[in-house]
Amino acid sequence: MRTSSADLPSPSTATAPPVTVPGEAGGAEIRGLVVVFGTPDGEMAAVNGVDLDLPLGTITGLVGESGSGKSTLALAMMNAVPKPGRIAAGSIRLPSVKDMTQLRGKALRLARGSALGYVFQASQNSLNPLKRIGAQLLDLGRAHGMEDKGVLLARARELCERMGLDPVRTLSAYQHELSGGMRQRVGIVFALILNPRVLVLDEPTTALDMISQRTVLDIVRDVHRDRHLATLIITHDIAIVADLADYLAVMYGGRVVEKGPTRHVLQSAAHPYTRGLIAAIPRISGDIEKARPLVGRPPDLLSIPRQGCVFRERCPLTIGRCSLEEPALVPVVKEPGGIFGESGDGAPGGHAAACHVTAPAGGDRSRS
Ligand SMILES: Nc1ncnc2c1ncn2[C@@H]1O[C@H](COP(=O)(O)OP(=O)(O)O)[C@@H](O)[C@H]1O
Ligand SMILES: [Mg+2]
Repeated sequence: MRTSSADLPSPSTATAPPVTVPGEAGGAEIRGLVVVFGTPDGEMAAVNGVDLDLPLGTITGLVGESGSGKSTLALAMMNAVPKPGRIAAGSIRLPSVKDMTQLRGKALRLARGSALGYVFQASQNSLNPLKRIGAQLLDLGRAHGMEDKGVLLARARELCERMGLDPVRTLSAYQHELSGGMRQRVGIVFALILNPRVLVLDEPTTALDMISQRTVLDIVRDVHRDRHLATLIITHDIAIVADLADYLAVMYGGRVVEKGPTRHVLQSAAHPYTRGLIAAIPRISGDIEKARPLVGRPPDLLSIPRQGCVFRERCPLTIGRCSLEEPALVPVVKEPGGIFGESGDGAPGGHAAACHVTAPAGGDRSRS
């Protein structure tokens, strides 16, 4: 995908159907999710009112700078937000789980792993250094009531092969005997061993060199297709998911500020933050000379603006209204006959952005 950011058109908003919810979907459905952390100043929201659909058969890229709330959102999907955090509002539907946020105890332990496979941020390590990989996989299976060792091992071998790992060597190895790229692939084996339909990968390639990055992403795409999964890839680097994701969701200050089909978002980003992310990356913006780093720093929990638009302090387009009123996420509609030759809606989870300037909700919404 090569788009000159200088040429990014300004999408206009007009009357549009509400952002569509993928119908037959299955997959995951996040509604009104709020996750707070206790701080000396009281509880602050790291995820603030997020709605997101992950339909089966689609890859969604969740992008945003460090601190925007991506990992917190992913942990909430497993109902595993660490203290002093908690899910304060919202619901998370997964295949065969009505609302992950309501589960406790054994029901929650069983749902983790079988409803949703989670691959931890590459820099972290979820493996036990003192136990062979194969033994840890058997532990995981047993914890989920899978007593048949044979079935589990056969599945583990098959998954290793799928990941381009030698099954015998890998399953009898300790984690320190594996390279970063191999460890990341083993992480995917763990995430998929219980056959979940939803796969969440948190910064899966951040700690890897370019070649290992490519390999891991190719494997993710293949396995996603074979198993018809709903896949969420979290990354701070929009270029990682530009070719891979069907949909993008852009997070800033705990909010999804723009989402939509990848092609729409990259070719006609509506939110100034998304435009900034795209302009900062030469591979997407198409011109190293013209790549411009985003100015300013992302907010942390204590400095997220509590009123108005979360991005306004770094925004080149800010107007008075931005400090008073929070912009709603509303559909972005292209000019008829514009670059897509279509109205811009229609795709599941159509293109939407939250910006008073580029996607004003204004009078159009009063009609709906
Ligand atoms: N365990 C925690 N305790 C307190 N604050 C946290 C904790 N985990 C994350 N946060 C805060 O929540 C915000 C979002 O963090 P995170 O979800 O890790 O962002 P990202 O994954 O996008 O980098 C940050 O301001 C971070 O400091
Ligand atoms: Mg993170």
